[in-house]
Amino acid sequence: MNDFLTVASGIVPDVPEYISKVCNEIKPASLTLKTLTLNGVEPHRPPTVLKFHDSCYMNAIGLGNPGVRSLENIGKPCQLIVSIGGSSIDEIVKVAEIAKQYGTIIEVNLSSPNRKGFGESMARYTKEVAGAVKDIINDKPVFIKLGPWDETLQLAGKALEGGADGLTLINTLKGMKIDLNSFSPYLSYTTGGISGKCIHPLAVRIIHDVYREYEPEIIGIGGVFDWEDALELASVGAKIIGVGTAILDEGLSVLTEIRKGVNDFLSEKGLRFPDVIGRAVKK
Ligand SMILES: Cc1cc2nc3c(=O)[nH]c(=O)nc-3n(C[C@H](O)[C@H](O)[C@H](O)COP(=O)(O)O)c2cc1C
Repeated sequence: MNDFLTVASGIVPDVPEYISKVCNEIKPASLTLKTLTLNGVEPHRPPTVLKFHDSCYMNAIGLGNPGVRSLENIGKPCQLIVSIGGSSIDEIVKVAEIAKQYGTIIEVNLSSPNRKGFGESMARYTKEVAGAVKDIINDKPVFIKLGPWDETLQLAGKALEGGADGLTLINTLKGMKIDLNSFSPYLSYTTGGISGKCIHPLAVRIIHDVYREYEPEIIGIGGVFDWEDALELASVGAKIIGVGTAILDEGLSVLTEIRKGVNDFLSEKGLRFPDVIGRAVKK
């Protein structure tokens, strides 16, 4: 990667025209696609996204996606991190086989909380999934994406034992919001993944703990809205910083602002981005 910023998975829909437009007009260093499964999955019915507080969202789109073969139409308009998922190890391997030629990095989603059987339901097979995907992808990095759970540190170890080249931390955390007019949940799926500023300190703590234990390559994601948030994740060990909810909230220009803010800070301090990675982690 020629830059430290990426667009997090799920923010730009897997629609070829839209992805080309973002790549060509915004020129992000890389763009992470929404998680692709073997066959298409219908999203949950609306409402699937809710802003419940300033800079804080909850979503339950449910891994709705057009299926991994849609990569043929997407092509490679810029460096892509291809996010893959499935409801069995076998499915994930089949998806990886198709995805491998399109991604600079292949990211395996073992953490979305929004569709039973997929995402976080597969986290208990972290080591096996990492091993099986690495068996077929040996010429490019495979990252395993985990969520902010009690057992994330142990699962990170399992992913690395299985052969993962790195970890993407963190996905959303399952929450719920009630509409008091109807006394029923706002989201059609009942629960949704919390993202944005509300999870930023969780991301800082989890990336810190995982980096202190294993020093792996980390794509750090979670509530990055400005350059300070980005540098905070880097200082606890993230090498690439993913921006998700901030783009939903403020538009893609937030990427340019974050990049400029980070670069201004670094040049003022006489530092380079790699100098910051893991700097706040005491061994
Ligand atoms: C609307 C929406 C859709 C998402 N879809 C996916 C997805 O398909 N796969 C995935 O791994 N993460 C998905 N995520 C999680 C984000 O990639 C990211 O890990 C999370 O939102 C935390 O980062 P943020 O606070 O910057 O948004 C989604 C997040 C949002 C808000």
